[in-house]
Amino acid sequence: MPVRIGEIAISSNLFLAPLAGYTNLPFRLAIRPLGGLGLATTDLVNARSLLERHAKSFKLIETAPGDEPLAVQLFGAVPEEMRDAALLLQERGVRMVDVNMGCPVRKVVRAGSGAALLADTARVARLVRTMTAALRIPLTCKMRLGWDSENLTAPDVARAAEDAGAAAITIHGRTRAQGFSGRVNLDGIAAVVRAVRRIPVVGNGDVTTPRAAKEMFERTGCAAVSIGRGAFSNPWIFAQTRALLDGATPPAEPGFDARIAFMSAHLDRMADVFGEETGCRMFRKVAAWSVRRLGPAAEFKRRLAGLRTRADFDAIVAHWRAWRQPFLGPDGELLPQYRPQDVLHADSLSKDGLPIPRGPSEWW
Ligand SMILES: Cc1cc2nc3c(=O)[nH]c(=O)nc-3n(C[C@H](O)[C@H](O)[C@H](O)COP(=O)(O)O)c2cc1C
Repeated sequence: MPVRIGEIAISSNLFLAPLAGYTNLPFRLAIRPLGGLGLATTDLVNARSLLERHAKSFKLIETAPGDEPLAVQLFGAVPEEMRDAALLLQERGVRMVDVNMGCPVRKVVRAGSGAALLADTARVARLVRTMTAALRIPLTCKMRLGWDSENLTAPDVARAAEDAGAAAITIHGRTRAQGFSGRVNLDGIAAVVRAVRRIPVVGNGDVTTPRAAKEMFERTGCAAVSIGRGAFSNPWIFAQTRALLDGATPPAEPGFDARIAFMSAHLDRMADVFGEETGCRMFRKVAAWSVRRLGPAAEFKRRLAGLRTRADFDAIVAHWRAWRQPFLGPDGELLPQYRPQDVLHADSLSKDGLPIPRGPSEWW
């Protein structure tokens, strides 16, 4: 299904959620040709760093032909800085800006907290209004459900953002207090869908299978779903989900060779964008995540620590291919006891071993 954000028509309502350090330009260029993916978003970029022209920030907003549609995600607390950073992006041809709201609502500890809450909603409104009043391109907001289960303020914040001119809301269905624990709260996402009047709401959190995406659409009424960790461990999830939603025959589950070919293409793009040495170093951590559906990989992961060149990768894979033979049956497939458990539901998330950030997750 297509979805419209402001004036921009996006052909698929399955989006890539930003995973700082993972879903960067090389990954986006590698994953888009697999199909099914609509909008992607850059890592979060500090508005002030952008205004101060820090090279690192400009690297984060780097894009290339084929990396569309793309939103750049900004964070910052000073509305005027956020506006100026967004204007800088607009001048550079960026077509959509996403504001990382983390969790904008400070904990309300005292009775009579309504005013404090309102004050924060007003702060969100002022931030969004300051930006949208100056911008021609659409502005979207990404937020969590609220501070904790006692303060599920996202519906109010989303509504305030819409009134201030936001063109879409992405809602990660967890509270800040939850971090990445527990399960995503679909009712909480549905409440945000009901709270806004016209703009699309993008549901987010724990979608690791096509079925989980379908459930999120059905149970929340959201207009789009964004997938982060699930896309990283299974880059085909967008094409597979598209097929499920469209009632088409699902594409065949990619095997070892297809997954290695994807990793290889990803590493090539890493080398293009960051240079071979840095690209290989950065690839060490992402590759460990990418192979989790390929059965025993201890030897691969051990050698990965020494990855320095493109040629090293080919040698590491060749070695791994030989090392994993005992785990395969006569048909060349993993023996049943070595197959990774299917992730059928968000319940399996922690068992699935998907890494969760140690960084400033208050922003996410
Ligand atoms: C390693 C990591 C980095 C993340 N970086 C960002 C980020 O830069 N901006 C953001 O809005 N959310 C960030 N998030 C949150 C994700 O976009 C998403 O909201 C969250 O992971 C839930 O979706 P998922 O279960 O599909 O991964 C990050 C999450 C992880 C695990």
